[in-house]
Amino acid sequence: MSTNESNAYELTYQRALEDPEGFWADAADALHWDARWERVLDARNAPLYRWFTGGQLNICYNAIDRHVETGRGDQAAVIYDSPVTGIKRTITYRELQDEVARFAGVLTSLGVTKGDRVIIYMPMTPETLIGMYACARIGAVHSVVFGGFAPNELAVRIDDAQPKVVLTASCGIEVQRIVPYKPLLDQALALATHQPAHCVVLQRPVHPCERTSGRDLDWHAAHVAASPVPCVPVDATDPLYILYTSGTTGMPKGVVRDHGGHAVALRWSMEHVYGLQPGEVFWAASDFGWAVGHSYIVYGPLLAGCTTVVHEGKPVGTPDAGEFWRVIQEHQVRVLFTAPTAFRAIKREDPNGAHYTRYDTSCLRALFLAGERLDPDTYHWARALIGKPVIDHWWQTETGWPVASNFLGLTSFPVKPGSPTKPVPGYVVEVLDDEGQTVAPNKEGAVVMILPLPPGSLTTLWRNDARYIDTYLTRYPGYYLTGDGGYIDEDGYLFIMGRVDDIIIVAGHNLSTGSIEQALASHPDVAECAVIGVRDALKTQLPVGLVVLKAGVTRAHADIAAELVQKVRSEVGPVANFRQVAVVARLPKTRSGKVLRKTMRLIADGDDWTMPATIDEPATLEEIAEALRGLGHARRS
Ligand code: COA
Ligand code: AMP
Repeated sequence: MSTNESNAYELTYQRALEDPEGFWADAADALHWDARWERVLDARNAPLYRWFTGGQLNICYNAIDRHVETGRGDQAAVIYDSPVTGIKRTITYRELQDEVARFAGVLTSLGVTKGDRVIIYMPMTPETLIGMYACARIGAVHSVVFGGFAPNELAVRIDDAQPKVVLTASCGIEVQRIVPYKPLLDQALALATHQPAHCVVLQRPVHPCERTSGRDLDWHAAHVAASPVPCVPVDATDPLYILYTSGTTGMPKGVVRDHGGHAVALRWSMEHVYGLQPGEVFWAASDFGWAVGHSYIVYGPLLAGCTTVVHEGKPVGTPDAGEFWRVIQEHQVRVLFTAPTAFRAIKREDPNGAHYTRYDTSCLRALFLAGERLDPDTYHWARALIGKPVIDHWWQTETGWPVASNFLGLTSFPVKPGSPTKPVPGYVVEVLDDEGQTVAPNKEGAVVMILPLPPGSLTTLWRNDARYIDTYLTRYPGYYLTGDGGYIDEDGYLFIMGRVDDIIIVAGHNLSTGSIEQALASHPDVAECAVIGVRDALKTQLPVGLVVLKAGVTRAHADIAAELVQKVRSEVGPVANFRQVAVVARLPKTRSGKVLRKTMRLIADGDDWTMPATIDEPATLEEIAEALRGLGHARRS
């Protein structure tokens, strides 16, 4: 690494630290503004900070129309590659502009205006991206709900966001099965109090559905009939979207992202973190339903004038473990972004990389991984296989873009496997002890960020400033609490060791044990329950349930367990990956009645643990260990 290269990061980081307003104003100049901001950083309502107040822009204009006007009209904006249907389709920037403008016309004709919410419950089709941009175009607030969530979870989000319109499809397509979305939406609407005025349904030939008369419109018919509408300038501080993420209770948190700060941060990150040039192909192999999908399938690549890949398939099974390499070769992907679990899945099926050798992936510059800890084994395997930089980077739904990373567009630091390297300019990361003191290098503690967070991070929780402040800003005043534990080493490298709350990370998705417990607790035979995340070689963690039955229940435990597994699947969704539950006589608790989930997790994982001083009945832990052994965990050393 040359001195200049190593200085690029230091200089940029210091500038963002010492002159954040100058730094972010310069970054904002890469976008088109309909009205320039009055304040770059607005601290008048601290700790609720806002960026670019008084400014007006439209993220859809900046991501699509602007490129058509400046000569990119014939460049591919979106490549849709769907191994599950056999469809491949390229959409140019000009075609995308037309499709989005006309779908914005559909929404307008349904009475959707600035500030109205639109829920999107759809598969990995280009229409989902078109629906999102159509909302942004007219200042409506989209809220995408991941297709692997059950009707109950969708209903909770519908009641919280109160959408005027819902966009859906007749089905999604998983490896082994069709997922009929329309009946799931109907069930959700039967559960929800709030009812949208209309649903727009994308009919997929593989599994069309009935439409509800008077309420549902056919996507294609409405689209063809609609008149295009232009971009509406919105305040930089207006909400662009709500994305629900797991809370430590069963009630998800509606992360709110704004138009201005979000666009500025994503545009900056495409160049400086991911090292992309306009015209290049970027592929985030994720789902529209996650923050990665919002930031790096939908908005980031197009803001930077790149081509984005919408892939409706999986790393394995569609049809084989060579799928990622095929897509990279066929579409000349420069940078791939996915979760470590995808690589663990490929490694499990193709440990020697036989599929890899079938393709020419020389176009690939780097692989970025996030969503869960990148274990050193997977890092070394991927690095050796592709012979290109493998970059671990750390972020959360809340931040919307990376907090710590290595950099293709600034400085490429030597890799320390297990570490997402250094804080991204704009973020100041610290590790604190219980008293709020900064800990010494290499000592673990709570990972926090100094306020204000940079542009692009969440601005609040939907209609719930109090929950935002209480969840993130109260534990350590002046800091944002990430919920992760970790440490910073003597060279300033950050290591994220895992969640310190009741959120678990399953296949790169974060899930609340609280929402699974809620489903278990509502079974008529269950008196109380606890759910813990147990280590898993493929998916990082898997949820395991421990239930105590009501007195007098004599039914076979296996029958009850099967019902509980099905209950979680139908109430939380298949994405919970809930398959293991054990009936126990009692749960270990402190004398004040708090269930000792962390100790149970350590036992399940076979890690060192100590008997908590506050435990009520020590013998319960041995009973739990026995039950966990019955499920294949907590092996005796
Ligand atoms: N709609 C409906 N159901 C869905 C779904 C969707 N969009 N996505 C997943 N599901 C279902 C799956 O079919 C599966 O159902 P099953 O229990 O009937 O098998 C269940 O939810 C669990 O899904 P998942 O945990 O994703 O497991 P999987 O075995 O289908 O796939 C991986 C495993 C590793 C291949 C997959 O998780 C993956 O590619 N992950 C990495 C990419 C990623 O999405 N990262 C997110 C952040 S970057
Ligand atoms: P989500 O909001 O679903 O993106 O999940 C965010 C959580 O995933 C973080 O709080 C971390 O616990 C975990 N996570 C994401 N990226 C990484 C990473 N690179 N290393 C370790 N943990 C990560």
